[in-house]
Amino acid sequence: MKRVGMLTSGGDCQALNATMRGVAKGLFSNLDEVEIYGFLDGYKGLIYSNFRMLSASDFSGILTRGGTILGSSRQPFKLMRVPDANGLDKVEAMKHTYHKLNLDCLVILGGNGTQKTANLLSEEGLNIIGLPKTIDNDIWGTDMTFGFQSAANIATDAIDCIHTTAASHGRVFIVEVMGHKVGWLTLHAGIAGGADIILIPEIPYDIDKVVAAIERRNKAGKRFTILAVAEGAISKEDAALSKKDYKKKLETSPYPSISYELAKQIEERTAVEVRITVPGHTQRGGSPSPYDRVLSTRLGSKAAQMIIDGEYGYMVAIKNNMVDKTPLKEVAGRLKMVDPNADIVMEAKRIGISFGD
Ligand code: F6P
Repeated sequence: MKRVGMLTSGGDCQALNATMRGVAKGLFSNLDEVEIYGFLDGYKGLIYSNFRMLSASDFSGILTRGGTILGSSRQPFKLMRVPDANGLDKVEAMKHTYHKLNLDCLVILGGNGTQKTANLLSEEGLNIIGLPKTIDNDIWGTDMTFGFQSAANIATDAIDCIHTTAASHGRVFIVEVMGHKVGWLTLHAGIAGGADIILIPEIPYDIDKVVAAIERRNKAGKRFTILAVAEGAISKEDAALSKKDYKKKLETSPYPSISYELAKQIEERTAVEVRITVPGHTQRGGSPSPYDRVLSTRLGSKAAQMIIDGEYGYMVAIKNNMVDKTPLKEVAGRLKMVDPNADIVMEAKRIGISFGD
């Protein structure tokens, strides 16, 4: 008999259900006896012992369903060691739930912060398997996270739609893409959508270079310019500020996001009208793309095999298109960022895409 706990934590994405289905089907198909306990709303369910037992039928028909059947919540890693409002020690509470249910292991689907807590629980002696979820693709130790390709499709669709209206009006359009502190999603959607300018956090931009790129297009007779801007994009000036000063600037900024500041600067320096589109959480919504369904099934299936083999303390990963695993302690606390000199950036620059640098 294997007793397996499962939870989804942090921001959701399209292929969480598809991944859990992969794990569950891999277990139900290969073990005579298995019990799966689903903790509700992420680590909260583990802390407060809020769970339900899941049967094989719970995992049927969910390959294509976005969101998470377990619910999710953000439980910041930095607060894990801070007692809750009633003085409860969260780490001890999670361990207590795990032992009370006599679990063999816990499967944790989540992004960076989630994997940090997964590593903490592993260091506390629990058997943990992590699965790399996020539309941001910023988890260390895996080439790809599930959710990323689905979100890239949606962000690309947004840019595609902007193309036709931008061409009619001869305007500058900014499409602001999610990604938190990294530029993977913007880079991929920007290239896929044929954006003229791509601004990502890893390559701080110079507003004069951005304006020059727009003017070059105007002079060449192009009627419009499309910018794919990461929500975390940053100017060279701001990148030179201390962390504290930059945080203060953001807190006191009159703009809801970087795109609005950029739009104002572009309008002040050029005669063109600027419009902003923020697809926001639509990028995390809807059904997973075929790529993500395959990736999730592969990662989930591998997790099932690791449970059967009793291999714990790892995050399942994909490297060079092979399913693999990375020790949780290597994943925890590290961010996978876009290398400004990566081939993909150079290739984009070679075809004339400006990064504003
Ligand atoms: O990590 C996924 C993500 O969608 C980021 O791209 C974004 O910065 C953040 O989550 C938004 O978080 P929330 O859903 O809590 O607003």
